[in-house]
Amino acid sequence: MKIAAGADHAGFRIKAAVVRHLRARGHEIIDFGTDSETQSVDYPSYAHLVAAAVAGGAVERGVLVCGTGIGMCITANRHGGVRAADCVTPYLAEMSRRHNDANVLCLGGRILSEDEALAITEVWMATPFEGDRHVRRIALIDEPEADADGE
Ligand code: RB5
Repeated sequence: MKIAAGADHAGFRIKAAVVRHLRARGHEIIDFGTDSETQSVDYPSYAHLVAAAVAGGAVERGVLVCGTGIGMCITANRHGGVRAADCVTPYLAEMSRRHNDANVLCLGGRILSEDEALAITEVWMATPFEGDRHVRRIALIDEPEADADGE
């Protein structure tokens, strides 16, 4: 799968580990940086690059890492068609795929160990979207006045 990755200084270390991990599993990664944990940078710049690549179809998915994952997630979700999820446990990663068809994974470099981040990434990559009623719910994200009856 073609995947875009990006991080700020607080997410650089975990982003590097995730990129290595995904490449070792045969994925094609476009790494938008940053490439240092000592040079302070602004997380929205990297979130916009990765989200635009996902929204424009250049890649199927994205991974973004900042200190908490929160700023990356807020920024990425400004892009139409992007469903970014800040996942702090494998369960959240699983549900973000099954129910939300998340196409951008956000991680917190200051709250997750490398092992935790890789475990979350593994689950997120391996879990399919369930479809069914969740297709309608995802459509309602962009069209809130549509009929919202459902299970
Ligand atoms: C940088 O200090 C920090 O604010 C950033 O990495 C991120 O956590 C923002 O949401």
